[in-house]
Amino acid sequence: MSIDTQNLQAYRASLLHFHADPAFAEDAYAWHADGLLVIENGRVKAAGDHAQLASTLPAGVEIVDYRGKIIVPGFIDTHLHFPQTDMIASPAPGLLPWLENFTFPTERQFGDPAHGRATADFFLDELLRNGTTTALVYCTVHKESVDALFEASSARNLRMGGGKVLMDRHCPDFLQDTADLRESEALIRKWHNKGRNMYAITPRFAPTSTEAQLAATGELAKAYPDTFIQTHVSENQDECRWVGELFPQRRSYLDVYDHYGLMRERAMYGHCIWLDDADFARMAETGSAISHCPTSNLFLGSGLFDIARADNAGALVSLGTDVGAGTSFSMLQTMNEAYKVARLKGSYLPALRMFYLATLGAARSMQLEGTIGNFVPGLEADFIVLDPKSTPLLARRTAHSNTLEETLFALALLGDDRAIRATYAAGRLVHERTLP
Ligand code: GUN
Ligand code: ZN
Repeated sequence: MSIDTQNLQAYRASLLHFHADPAFAEDAYAWHADGLLVIENGRVKAAGDHAQLASTLPAGVEIVDYRGKIIVPGFIDTHLHFPQTDMIASPAPGLLPWLENFTFPTERQFGDPAHGRATADFFLDELLRNGTTTALVYCTVHKESVDALFEASSARNLRMGGGKVLMDRHCPDFLQDTADLRESEALIRKWHNKGRNMYAITPRFAPTSTEAQLAATGELAKAYPDTFIQTHVSENQDECRWVGELFPQRRSYLDVYDHYGLMRERAMYGHCIWLDDADFARMAETGSAISHCPTSNLFLGSGLFDIARADNAGALVSLGTDVGAGTSFSMLQTMNEAYKVARLKGSYLPALRMFYLATLGAARSMQLEGTIGNFVPGLEADFIVLDPKSTPLLARRTAHSNTLEETLFALALLGDDRAIRATYAAGRLVHERTLP
């Protein structure tokens, strides 16, 4: 029997991937300085030392030579808004004026399918340029915006999550929907688990939903238990006060969502800056997850997320860019800011931990371990090729690295889209950096 080598690919580089959280486990990662990643039919077949694996390859399989680079699993961005691509870096003094003056007028345009598709195409290519192969994405209230995102992700065969924003009060008329969620249900049936697409039920945040809409959202989440849920919580102190006035009977902002059945596995809560200890405990108890969005939080002046409190509670944590309030599509730049936010809260975030949070940690937060997030055989082959010499400064700095931690730290602090030499989704090359 002849072996079909067409569907086999092999990549030689340093390999790094995680099987545990380095904050809680020794031996949390695998590192192969001269490694080989073998892919078959879009899935990982093997990951290990080149010296051991190369001889197992059938004759005729070409080995792509990325020596000097580091292959890691594709980054996972657990919170961002594709319709806000065109308004990234819009000046406003804080969340609520930013929403009113920039966000809502921009999102209005997404009733137009052609505009949605063109933006989704640009957005996904920008993610891939930055090494992000999976994301949890907010669309707008328009169902056309959801079709646009999933059509664009299907065309690239990406593992992508997203959903229609729900808001039926405290927003402009042109963006207001109702507590009747049949449109969202139809979108779930149309897109959830179709190819690699995943639907996320998306109430924007408690202030823009009536109690009737939140109750209906909880029912929908119960009826489709393997869908995702995504929303914002405790981002800004003015917003927290407002929620207190709107829902005086609830113990806390997070308790509003809890009350309506929106805390469960696969629920992703953006920001979580002003949670109290009981909230953090509830996060852990319910298997809900936190998306920490440092570039957004610094940009809007929302506050400083306290990762130590989340860790002490045992809550799931991952990183989000929160574009367009976030100021970069780059998960490396997101790590850079997460590091500094942690310092300001008296914590220390090692680079290895940050790479875990952006890969396996996020996969775990989304209950996708075993599907994406590391290089266990059988997993979907989403991976990126990092270049520690991608700029003159990075080359100069990493030439003096004595440890893996130092090299990763330099990549996180100094790197951006230029450090992403190539991006592969389901084993297929979907971005290659054109060198100057
Ligand atoms: N809260 C409600 N909507 C939004 C949004 O679009 N971005 C951010 N950062 N926070 C929000
Ligand atoms: Zn957001």
